[in-house]
Amino acid sequence: MIRANEGVIVSNAIANRDGSVFENPDDFDIRRSARHHLAFGYGVHQCLGQNLARLELEVILKALFDRIPTLRLAVPVEELNLRPATTIQGVNELPVTW
Ligand code: HEM
Repeated sequence: MIRANEGVIVSNAIANRDGSVFENPDDFDIRRSARHHLAFGYGVHQCLGQNLARLELEVILKALFDRIPTLRLAVPVEELNLRPATTIQGVNELPVTW
């Protein structure tokens, strides 16, 4: 129960894995239509740089795969060394081959 004047901290990262909103939420699927994700926050403090970030990723990933079309993981995905789950998620290292 949340009492009057108590604060609530919401984990955006967990909200993005809500199976009632996103189909197969743990799958990495760049083609999914995830219009309501919270990766850039929500409300008045929503990320100011999100359009720049989207453009940068589009340009960078296209250039990378244009130049190295056979780029792929060098280890099974289950063996990736993940950073501890925090707001910013990622891998400690990403072995690749081409
Ligand atoms: C993939 C890249 C990025 C992600 C995932 C991201 C995510 C976020 C998130 C979750 C917030 C917090 C929203 C909140 O407090 O509720 C935020 C805030 C912010 N971001 Fe980003 N961001 C990214 C890139 C950028 C870039 C490239 C810029 C600027 C060039 C930027 C500028 C800001 C600023 C100024 C705020 C504060 C907005 C405010 O408090 O009103 N971000 N971002």
